[in-house]
Amino acid sequence: SILIVDFGSQVTQLIARRVREAGVYSEIAPFNSAAEAFARMQPKGVILSGGPSSVMWDDSPRAPQAIFDAGVPVLGICYGQQTMMQQLGGNVEGGESGEFGRAFIEVKKSCALFDGLWNEGERHQVWMSHGDKVTQLAPGFEVVATSEGAPFAVTANEARRFYATQFHPEVVHTPDGGKLLANFVRHVCGLAGDWTMAEFRATKIADIRAQVGEGRVICGLSGGVDSAVAAVLIHEAIGDQLTCVFVDHGLMRLGEAEQVVSLFREHYGIKLVHVNAEERFLGGLAGLTDPEKKRKFIGGEFIAVFEEEAATIGGADFLAQGTLYPDVIESVSFTGGPSVTIKSHHNVGGLPERMNMQLVEPLRELFKDEVRVLGKELGLPDIFVGRHPFPGPGLAIRIPGEVTKDRCDILRKADAVYLEEIRNAGLYDAIWQAFAVLLPVRTVGVMGDLRTYDSVCALRAVTSTDGMTADIYPFDAAFLSRVATRIINEVKGINRVVYDFTSKPPGTIEWE
Ligand code: XMP
Repeated sequence: SILIVDFGSQVTQLIARRVREAGVYSEIAPFNSAAEAFARMQPKGVILSGGPSSVMWDDSPRAPQAIFDAGVPVLGICYGQQTMMQQLGGNVEGGESGEFGRAFIEVKKSCALFDGLWNEGERHQVWMSHGDKVTQLAPGFEVVATSEGAPFAVTANEARRFYATQFHPEVVHTPDGGKLLANFVRHVCGLAGDWTMAEFRATKIADIRAQVGEGRVICGLSGGVDSAVAAVLIHEAIGDQLTCVFVDHGLMRLGEAEQVVSLFREHYGIKLVHVNAEERFLGGLAGLTDPEKKRKFIGGEFIAVFEEEAATIGGADFLAQGTLYPDVIESVSFTGGPSVTIKSHHNVGGLPERMNMQLVEPLRELFKDEVRVLGKELGLPDIFVGRHPFPGPGLAIRIPGEVTKDRCDILRKADAVYLEEIRNAGLYDAIWQAFAVLLPVRTVGVMGDLRTYDSVCALRAVTSTDGMTADIYPFDAAFLSRVATRIINEVKGINRVVYDFTSKPPGTIEWE
């Protein structure tokens, strides 16, 4: 395995992700418990992350000396490079001007890190983000690549198998970064690269058992992939100690609530409480038109219903959530330990604090696409695992204006037609999210010689890698007109269909 020592970089988890992609198991330990983790794991290599501190500060974090003395390969990245160099006898100075963003390095010498990848004399794009820089190498190191702002962009002590990069190989803006990290963990550290999600599953199952013991766990299912994968994994670990609560707000897509119930109850045999709260939610939404008021009501009501059900079940010690890494912003302050802030997860924000239960969050380290791989590993059907993201407040935020049962039903039908056409055209997996929106606008039309005065439906489809930015999906006109025709013919209440051409930014993906 590989130990990743975290000095508080926002992208430490990306290092872990790249190491997983290279087929190698790793664990992240905050710098102040790294010595312990190192002794316990006996890793075949160590990666020191970047971080917000400066080695010039008196109390800035350090790597445990034992790591350098153990004879294992070490790769220092950015702050990790600087502390490594200073701890091993080199020198670092505060730069007057840092380097931030895209930079180019020139390869000066071959080294094991570059094997099969970079050759002497070549220039390669990398991503830099640093203020301080190394000004004098520690004994035994030599420069193997330089950049304009960092004469010691990559340095190596091949005899001790120590490597240090000023740039960040873990980010996508360093195009060869994943391969450099793979070189380090496989070629330099000698790890086989045969670690898979199957082993992640086994490790997490052991972790969950150790955390929960004989305790009882409740898990809120949203119908989405994340909470489903978390629930199935936890069920595999502790069986009937887990009870799932599915708060069905009546704002799901066509047929999805039924699918969730049958998948969990029948296929997996998981204890599932299905709370049909449609009336309660629609009742509360009556008269609400402001997007934030709608969201707040749904979030609050979700918590209220969940709490009531939890009280009925009684006595659970743990609350399980499908929190993913992007939901978690981790930072390590340089004086204390890691401090963790959770972005209020739209669906269950505020639940943990209110319920006074310990959290079980087995997916915290994973990114969305990795959760999908794990879901497949756990036997969840492809169609479920590959589903587009769906927002916690459901169709309510795709019906601008007042939400009523009638409007939900109309939207469900139009959405189902649209998605069916997308699947038939083989485009579903090329699109991040596609959905219909029912507008609070009526327009005049003519059908069979009769005047119509009905609602407008907008179609949205975007590509994205993380939902943070998005571009529209460029359907051809024939496809869009086929969908429009079908929706108008098959869905009573809609007589006009338009396509949303707005990227994000400036638009958001959802309309509210
Ligand atoms: P926006 O509309 O902000 O959406 O561009 C970005 C991504 O987040 C999803 N989304 C939500 N997901 N609860 C969720 O679980 C929510 O309240 C929520 N609002 C937006 C949205 O579908 C898109 O994938």
